[in-house]
Amino acid sequence: IKKIGVLTSGGDSPGMNTAIRAVVRACSYYNIQCIGIKEGYHGLINNDMSELGPRSVKHIINRGGTFLKTARSQEFRTPEGRKKAFENFKLNELDALVVIGGDGSFTGASVFHKEFEVPFIGIPGTIDNDIFGTDATIGYDTALNTVIEAIDRIRDSATSHNRVFFVEVMGRDAGFIALNSGIASGAQDILIPEKKDSLEELLQTLERSQQAGKNSSIIVVAEGEELGNVYDLAKATQKKFPEYDIRVTVLGHIQRGGSPTCQDRVLASRLGVAAVEAILEGKSNLMAGLRSNKVVYTPIEEAIKKHNQIDEELIKVAKILAI
Ligand code: F6P
Repeated sequence: IKKIGVLTSGGDSPGMNTAIRAVVRACSYYNIQCIGIKEGYHGLINNDMSELGPRSVKHIINRGGTFLKTARSQEFRTPEGRKKAFENFKLNELDALVVIGGDGSFTGASVFHKEFEVPFIGIPGTIDNDIFGTDATIGYDTALNTVIEAIDRIRDSATSHNRVFFVEVMGRDAGFIALNSGIASGAQDILIPEKKDSLEELLQTLERSQQAGKNSSIIVVAEGEELGNVYDLAKATQKKFPEYDIRVTVLGHIQRGGSPTCQDRVLASRLGVAAVEAILEGKSNLMAGLRSNKVVYTPIEEAIKKHNQIDEELIKVAKILAI
């Protein structure tokens, strides 16, 4: 192994820069070249890449986003796109790839590996925390902290006005951000795609809280909630309780930005080094993750297919504490 390419793909997440830095510096430590590929698989298809040395990743450890840029490449989903990508992989004499991203990015890498035997190691970078094989994905902790800071502010306003707030958080198919931020910010109810929610239950919860003398409530709703979107839920609640003063806040992409937390920086640093070391040991088609504070490698197919499971105990805790 003489030359490794690194790219970030899919939705950006805080800590991706930290992971790139770790990959680049680990390469330098082990005396191999590191090539930064721009805009995910786009850069591989369009031959947009350049060498990165340890100094080219200075002062990015604390910066949100990804300086290599990212994309969800449609072209890479086509055999023609992947063929072009492989031609450039060869042209640049790359020996392996480090792919930092979520399940879509790993699926792309896995197909590429099957077609052209391109060795690669995945690093889980997504705020959603929906990847199997790691206790946390890079960016998740930062996103959670951003969300609870926002909800704390919303609470100030909610209590001042005696209002009910519906707050939508990210998580297209996963409720990790909603469940954990909901517990941490004292939400009255938390609606996530992984549990069967019903409108009746939500309305009962609100009724109970009213009877208990609460004047304001926060309901956290995951973007992927199957019962309906945050506006529909607010409308249905208003219909049942015309006296409520209801507001909706969609936190959106503020959850994706910002300086990574200490936890995300350490995670990204460890996984960056682990990915390079795995490649040097001849490993491939695996994702580097952290479980019980130890680096583990999970077959990429498992990481993609087996979604991270929501802990039932957390659902129970949220319920018990919302009385
Ligand atoms: O996968 C990360 C994520 O932030 C999801 O939570 C969200 O549904 C999606 O990306 C949004 O994607 P985009 O930035 O393309 O709108």
